[in-house]
Amino acid sequence: MTIAPFKIEEFFTRYEFSAPYILGASDAETFSMAELINFADADILALWNHLKLGYTETHGLPLLRQEIADLYQTVKAQNVLVCSGAEEAIYASMQLLAKPGDHAVIVTPCYQSHKTIPAYCGIEITEVAIKPHGQGWRLDFDELENAMRDNTRFISINFPNNPTSYLPSAELFAQIVKLAKDSGAYLLSDEIYRYSEQNIKDRLPAACDVYEKGISLSGTSKLWGLPGLRIGWLVSHDTTLLNQICSVKNYLSLCNSAPSEILTVMAIRAHEKILARNQKIVARNLKLLDNFFAQQEDLFEWRRPNAGITAFVLLKHSMPIDQFVEKLIYTQGVVLLPGSVYDYKENFFRIGFGRANMPEALDRFTQFVHQLKEHSL
Ligand SMILES: Cc1ncc(COP(=O)(O)O)c(C=O)c1O
Repeated sequence: MTIAPFKIEEFFTRYEFSAPYILGASDAETFSMAELINFADADILALWNHLKLGYTETHGLPLLRQEIADLYQTVKAQNVLVCSGAEEAIYASMQLLAKPGDHAVIVTPCYQSHKTIPAYCGIEITEVAIKPHGQGWRLDFDELENAMRDNTRFISINFPNNPTSYLPSAELFAQIVKLAKDSGAYLLSDEIYRYSEQNIKDRLPAACDVYEKGISLSGTSKLWGLPGLRIGWLVSHDTTLLNQICSVKNYLSLCNSAPSEILTVMAIRAHEKILARNQKIVARNLKLLDNFFAQQEDLFEWRRPNAGITAFVLLKHSMPIDQFVEKLIYTQGVVLLPGSVYDYKENFFRIGFGRANMPEALDRFTQFVHQLKEHSL
């Protein structure tokens, strides 16, 4: 079996480094090396200055594993496997979790590798969709429960979700954890947008802290605006599984980039400052989007997220979403992500509100919308 094309990444490969405005981005505003190094304390600066560029430990730098463990409540450094991006963590873990003959439940829409890679590994998949529901989104617990089988090996979730930013209530999350526990399935929880909740009371527990077969996946790429570090991680009490996943990593990156590991320690120690700067950008951008969508209610259905840095918006126009997105790129240089890359049948697109230049991109998008209405583009 060949692996399915990675539609999201292939779409971005076409435009990400040529179009002036990426309005569909899923990451926050980035930081420069100088800004990041400025956050560093004396100890970590000394490590940085004396760093030797040899191979690194496959599980990750021990100091970094400890710093990551400290972000959770019940784990130690030995419960952390550092990977080259969250993507490697997904790929490597699926080699262990997604065996032919077994079954997995995947909550969708999701970052494509969460379903493409298990399918490629030969496991049977049932998708359970987060659906539009009034002003927001909804995941039906009964549907999730009905999707479970005797041979369900794992449930894959991503809250806050990319692209909808849907965040379930604590009660629903507890029901999902119980469902996994009762069936003995692993709970693979992509928590890369955890900490983006606009109200801290909405923050869910990390899966690794509430279930011994919970696997929390995260990294520096999204909220911290540091995707160029290519650092992600898996955290779980199941160290046997982590060690097996680490053996797969020997065939992939083998080990992480030494400078990136030190830079990630700097970022973790400064993560409150990093998040605070990015939350300000998000708050400003969300106000602009509220205003924009209030004026364009005839054309769009806007579900305002209470977390995350992306929203999934319905275009209420007969133009197919791919054509709409292409016209916007070619007339205004603004890139939205069409919902078709998530295999979504309806006319949805992803818009991102984490970037500093979003106001300029939105001005151009507004001009495009006016042209569309005036001249039926
Ligand atoms: C939900 C989610 N998980 C994981 C990833 C992969 O992240 P990384 O860039 O660290 O490989 C992405 C990237 O877009 C994502 O949106």
